[in-house]
Amino acid sequence: MGLKDKLTQLRDEGMAEIRNSKDLQKINEVRVKMLGKKGPITSVLRGMKELSAEERPVVGKFANKVRDELTTAIEDRRAELEQAELDAQLAEEKLDVTLPGTPVAQGQSHVIQQIIDQVVDLFVSMGYEVAVGDEVEQEVYNFEKLNLPKDHPARDMQDTFYVTPTVLMRTQTSPMQARMLEKHDFSQGPLKMISPGKVYRRDTDDATHSHQFNQIEGMVVGKHITMADLKGTLEVVAQSLFGDKLQVRLRPSYFPFTEPSVEADITCFNCMGKGCAICKHTGWIEVLGAGMVHPNVLKMSGVDPEEYGGFAFGLGPDRFAMLKYGVDDIRNFYQNDVRFLNQFDEKG
Ligand code: DAH
Repeated sequence: MGLKDKLTQLRDEGMAEIRNSKDLQKINEVRVKMLGKKGPITSVLRGMKELSAEERPVVGKFANKVRDELTTAIEDRRAELEQAELDAQLAEEKLDVTLPGTPVAQGQSHVIQQIIDQVVDLFVSMGYEVAVGDEVEQEVYNFEKLNLPKDHPARDMQDTFYVTPTVLMRTQTSPMQARMLEKHDFSQGPLKMISPGKVYRRDTDDATHSHQFNQIEGMVVGKHITMADLKGTLEVVAQSLFGDKLQVRLRPSYFPFTEPSVEADITCFNCMGKGCAICKHTGWIEVLGAGMVHPNVLKMSGVDPEEYGGFAFGLGPDRFAMLKYGVDDIRNFYQNDVRFLNQFDEKG
């Protein structure tokens, strides 16, 4: 076979291999094999010295043409394969921005916190300041300064976790009464404060008791504050939380830091006073303790009881939440089962 025929055959074989190359690696191999120094075209060109002077330029020209054709075909195929690879990659990584996203669960405030926020917002709208105390409290503020000296029998009502002999987990938010009375500058006007927070008692947890629960303390001390102010204030709270037809009833009670002391009842919001299971057929529901601040409490915090006086109250948002939503076991609020808590989604 003449060199020219050989070259034609090489070209046809080469073209077929190029067409059959399915990826970039293969086309690269074909290029090295066909056009490299040890490739068949180079060896054909080496054999040219055997040719006559007339034949040499003709074959040489043809060989160059074959090489150019193969080179172009290889480059075209490479470009084609590169494009195909890119297309495949793009198809695989395609991002459809119109697809719906994965929903992200949004948190919400705890049902008790919702009640606290509601009550606090209400008092803030009436000009009360919010005082946040510490859950670890000195015994003197939790008891002595609230007219509960050592050995006072009422201390037994509040079984206490002691941290040291004089430091305890507060059993009530009432210590904030003493702390705020001490701090307040009465020349600037009356003290009106609301103090929400957690309190602790050495109780065994059951449906109605929890060793940790919440209280909201309120206090107004100034000049000419009467029990009628207390009743009116409690009515506003009851009506804003449970409905505007509700009434408040005060019953005599006992707390060491108030004199007189009262227990406040509201009209049963379930039967509107007719009597039902929730109010144990009395038509009334007990919601908080309150009273007129005891002169001893004022005195111990450096406030003159001859000049100043006022009322205080303590309510339990846990109990409010139980009443409002008909929850019969307080432990539900603290076990943090989201299936339970999600029922009280503020956003509806
Ligand atoms: N601290 C009382 C308790 O934990 C609740 C209370 C009653 C607070 C009467 C008051 C009040 O401010 O006047 O049982």
